[in-house]
Amino acid sequence: MRSLLAPLSLLTVALSPAAAAQDARPSQTASSPDGSLVLTVTTDTDQRPTWSLSRKGKLLIAPSKLGFLLTDGVGLQRGFAIEGAEKASADSQWELPWGERRFVRDRHNELLVRFRQHESWGGHAINVRFRLFDDGIGFRYELPEQAGLKTAKIADEITEFDIAPEGTAWWIAGGEWNRYEQMYQKTPIDAVATAHTPITMRLADGTHLAFHEAALVDYSGMWLKRVEGRKFRATLAPSSRGARVIRDLPFNTPWRTIRIADGAAGLVESDLELNLNEPNKLGNVSWVKPMKYIGIWWGMIRGPWSWAEGPNHGATTERTKQYIDFAAKHGFGGVLVEGWNKGWNSNWFGHGHEYSFTEAYPDFDLNAVTDYARKKGVTLIGHHETGGNIAVYEAQLDDAMKLYGRLGVKAVKTGYVADAGGIIAPGDTPGETRMEWHDGQRQVQHHLKVVQTAAKYKVAVNPHEPVKDTGLRRTYPNWVAREGARGMEYNAWSDFGSGPDHEPTLVYTRMLSGPMDYTPGVLGLEGSNKAPFASTLAKQLGLYLAIYSPIQMAADFIESLEAHPRELEFIKAVPADWAESKLIAGEVGDYAIFARKDRGSADWYVGGVNDATERTLTLSFDFLDAGKSYTATVWKDGEGATYLTDARHRIAYETIKVKKGDTYKLWLAPGGGAAIRLHPGK
Ligand code: NOJ
Ligand code: CA
Repeated sequence: MRSLLAPLSLLTVALSPAAAAQDARPSQTASSPDGSLVLTVTTDTDQRPTWSLSRKGKLLIAPSKLGFLLTDGVGLQRGFAIEGAEKASADSQWELPWGERRFVRDRHNELLVRFRQHESWGGHAINVRFRLFDDGIGFRYELPEQAGLKTAKIADEITEFDIAPEGTAWWIAGGEWNRYEQMYQKTPIDAVATAHTPITMRLADGTHLAFHEAALVDYSGMWLKRVEGRKFRATLAPSSRGARVIRDLPFNTPWRTIRIADGAAGLVESDLELNLNEPNKLGNVSWVKPMKYIGIWWGMIRGPWSWAEGPNHGATTERTKQYIDFAAKHGFGGVLVEGWNKGWNSNWFGHGHEYSFTEAYPDFDLNAVTDYARKKGVTLIGHHETGGNIAVYEAQLDDAMKLYGRLGVKAVKTGYVADAGGIIAPGDTPGETRMEWHDGQRQVQHHLKVVQTAAKYKVAVNPHEPVKDTGLRRTYPNWVAREGARGMEYNAWSDFGSGPDHEPTLVYTRMLSGPMDYTPGVLGLEGSNKAPFASTLAKQLGLYLAIYSPIQMAADFIESLEAHPRELEFIKAVPADWAESKLIAGEVGDYAIFARKDRGSADWYVGGVNDATERTLTLSFDFLDAGKSYTATVWKDGEGATYLTDARHRIAYETIKVKKGDTYKLWLAPGGGAAIRLHPGK
């Protein structure tokens, strides 16, 4: 079957009249450095710009349109011809100040195609810059300065992705209630509706794809809308202003990206979007410190504490000092405190106008707490929940960040809890407000403004209910993590909250975009009203390796962490900053085992998460440094462990000696996981 498909699809293209006619029109081609990807850019019979892509000789993306719809009727779709093209290539290496790996290689070939419209169509110019890597492609529109088009009022993009082969997709719906916090759907590609990116696909021949975007700056987030069959079109998050994007020329759009790999590991290990972002604009960012943290948080999410004032108020001075003591004793870098500031007293959801970001509740002494933390070598992690009201937040933003900067608060978690489309943004006249989308142009501008303001005061930012990550941490390394998917909190709210498949799906979908503040480490495995987790105890440890963040929480109550001393030992040891990361075993939605090397030592860590199906893996330690013997300390599912019953608490420990090339048999329970620390010598 496999061998038949390729010639068949190529044949279809060769015989179609449109394609035959196309051959006569000027086209431009480029290939990836290893030659596996071949891009063709041309125009169709209606003189619309098109692009197509093949991989290893097989058609991957059939001819797909490029262009824009503008609200003022200027047409940027038809009447184009290729006016010129330029080629370039690059091979360089750059360094991440923190991350899954230290060095990133950027090796690509570039093709810039200049399209010009016939005068009768308006005579406009659009340039499209393509970059081809061995593991995927990115392209963006560049609208140069030109007469007759000062401001582009973009109604929508018409960028198409017509996926030639059949396959399976993992996706969440774009523009729907609950933003990105949905369970992933697994469907045939031709059953996807409108999806957020990253959207991950596995084709019938095993090729893995992930569609996303890079460098989303001053533009609306892109959703992928299936048009027919396996043809998708970009559609932008809407705006209350009518046009989904308004930009003065010249400007560049974000890059539209596709990671392409033979298997799941190639997808997960790709740095495609990071490579398409601008280098660090903040200079020396040694003040951005990877760390693990605890928080006054699970007690509100799960109860019995409250964000609001009252007898159960979580954020008291006394409790915060107790948490700081625990952090100092166990080497946690930070303590998150939510509900410290005025504004939580009514039903806080949707009450963003009530928040103050500088005034504390009377039972929380901000100065005393930050003094205490500083003396103990711990930072407070600040919290700004906006309820989606960015009009109120932006008015206080500089004061709020300045205050945290002055008090030595090194990171702030922000929040935008509001229904999809529920962002309240300043309007055009004083006092007027507008409704915007969580990933519309206005909110995209807002997030960057927060990150830049925080950077002025050397504060790192971790937004919840964010806009998706598109690799901007390269340019702004104080943008350390974000939520942007169903996090741990959902396990507090119902039995088996997000289910056993969720985390092994996140690894291959949401996590392709960048670090996530998932908040692992709930060792009690219990939500509100004793709601059971779809997780074994070992899986809570495996999450530290499966779901990367430079700020990793140990989310449980400190009493629960202390009640699990051997698990706490692992959480204390596991780094939040890596020299190298590899997926050593895994399949999309099923399981994921990583090997990661500490940046600060010669230690390796191995571990990850499983779905509902128990399995035994034979892990190969061929990634270890040669000539060294390692002591491997293992935390793994205990005999008979399963997420389905109280046996989820069963864990087993083992200490063995291993060296490069050894193998290790690892049983993963239903809903299970594992974590291994490999230390050279004893
Ligand atoms: C939702 C966030 O995901 C959660 O972490 C936070 O505690 C609440 N909003 C309140 O800000
Ligand atoms: Ca959330």
